[in-house]
Amino acid sequence: MKTVSKPVPPDSPPRPPAPFELEDLEGVGPTIAEKLREAGYTDLMELAVASPSDIAEAAEIGVAIAQRIVNEARKRADVGGFESGTTVLERRQKLGRITTHSKALDELLGGGVETQAITEFSGEFGTGKTQLGHQIAVDVQLPTGSGGLSGEVVYIDTESTFRPERIVDMSRAAGLDPTEALGRIHVARAFNSNHQMLLVQKAQELARERPIRLVVVDSLTAHFRSEYVGRAELAPRQQMLNKHLHELLRFADTYNASIVVTNQVSSRPDILFGDPTRPIGGNIVAHAATYRIYLRKSKPPKRIARLIDSPNLPEGEAVFSLTGEGIRD
Ligand code: GTP
Ligand code: MG
Repeated sequence: MKTVSKPVPPDSPPRPPAPFELEDLEGVGPTIAEKLREAGYTDLMELAVASPSDIAEAAEIGVAIAQRIVNEARKRADVGGFESGTTVLERRQKLGRITTHSKALDELLGGGVETQAITEFSGEFGTGKTQLGHQIAVDVQLPTGSGGLSGEVVYIDTESTFRPERIVDMSRAAGLDPTEALGRIHVARAFNSNHQMLLVQKAQELARERPIRLVVVDSLTAHFRSEYVGRAELAPRQQMLNKHLHELLRFADTYNASIVVTNQVSSRPDILFGDPTRPIGGNIVAHAATYRIYLRKSKPPKRIARLIDSPNLPEGEAVFSLTGEGIRD
């Protein structure tokens, strides 16, 4: 991941505690930890609720060892722990919001892009998904109270469409120093879906050092779509996408961050889903994403955003424009 270090902004939020390391578990040394990591087990809760035989098989370790690891993980993970309504409320009160620089779109989203949530922008090519990713990556850097969270950004770019020049234009228009703004965006090109998922882990590492308040994944689904082809691949594709989304959601909770993902809707019918107006990932994304915005073109430079299946906001539409300065009303 290419990162440029810049001083942490003065009003950045307190750092969350360092996440769990496998080696913290009693009886797990570097060798077993490595095997677990390679098998994709990095999370305490995941280990605590996994079946020992699954772990043994995936990590190529003995079942007895796997059982011991699960027991250790359960002791520490507080499995099935309940939290009081007060705790939940306290967490909800920490929710932050990032402006999109369009009043209408902010209103549609209930006041901007929310933290501790995944927001999906779907739509055909050229509807402004990437422009929105860039704009929000700039706006999260604004001070709290001015539409931002004084935060930094992890930008996972799967289609090589990240353009620093656009960040320069948008940050200048937003009153930020363009060089500093670029320095607070940590960009990584994801070469395939596995790499894309690995980058979320890397983002966790980075977030221990930098005040990351936004992760953009543009596009969430492109690699999955091209790698898992045909009906037989549907289940594995959905399973991996589900895992990816839940790792993103965990990041959002841990760091009180926003997750913005894009999802192209192709005008050609998807062989697996048929309906071209449905973003891929179907139910999986529907369950994980809190806010789903469907974009379509209108009279240039206007775009229409429609909020679909939101749990707590009324369905509705907003019109915004794609301009040289970025997203505007
Ligand atoms: P795909 O990734 O192909 O699915 O499309 P997308 O939804 O990501 O579209 P994107 O965000 O790239 O939007 C492209 C549109 O943004 C262009 O058609 C322009 O209307 C607008 N746009 C991009 N860059 C500029 C710019 O520098 N100036 C202006 N005025 N508009 C721009
Ligand atoms: Mg794009």
